[in-house]
Amino acid sequence: MSLVIHRLQQVSSTQDEARRLVETGEVGPGHVVVVDEQTKGRGRFGREWLSPVGGLYATFIVARHPLISLVSGVAVLRALARFGVAVRLKWPNDLVVDGRKLAGILIECKNEVALVGIGVNLREAPLDTATSVRAAGGTVKRGELIVTIWEEMTEAVASEDIVGEYRTHLATLDQPVRLTLEDGETVEGRAVDIDPEGRLLVETAAGVRAISSGECSHLRS
Ligand code: BTN
Repeated sequence: MSLVIHRLQQVSSTQDEARRLVETGEVGPGHVVVVDEQTKGRGRFGREWLSPVGGLYATFIVARHPLISLVSGVAVLRALARFGVAVRLKWPNDLVVDGRKLAGILIECKNEVALVGIGVNLREAPLDTATSVRAAGGTVKRGELIVTIWEEMTEAVASEDIVGEYRTHLATLDQPVRLTLEDGETVEGRAVDIDPEGRLLVETAAGVRAISSGECSHLRS
């Protein structure tokens, strides 16, 4: 399926713009909304995603998939690798280089589709804890990266072993971790595996917990 690109200059968030276009029926699977700048970019758990001109801010509209979080992480990782940028995954789908975040993914659902919002620091890292494609030694044009992410997403969706591939790139494995769950509960332990549903298995003092959603910190840098 070829990609239909909707390019805009400035929006509050590509997630909101994509949702609006899905509601009006103007976009569907195989479309992407990309902007130069977001005034209210958002990350997971309601955090702000700083979105100055020069970064990649895009929302891909894709058919729902039970492992879309893993599929998207692997697709962005493979796309960056094609431009010489070696990243690893921090559960569930942060893309990191030496523990510094280079890209993030926010997934929301609307009707029959998933809105896969991807932010990549291309030239600048807007935070001290972050890094960028340039700092990691890569060069890539935004448009080329968008098309490459789409190609990799199409392949990853069809993969028969996306969990296996995801596992090989997961920097979180064997790490001592702290997870903050959506209800505020904190879970600490060692990340031991990913189960077939994409949940992180954490060995705690009280036994192994399967975590499906949460904010993950690696306790060893
Ligand atoms: C995270 O790591 O917390 C997810 C960050 C996702 C940022 C992207 S930028 C494009 C899309 N629009 C948004 O408002 N957020 C996502």
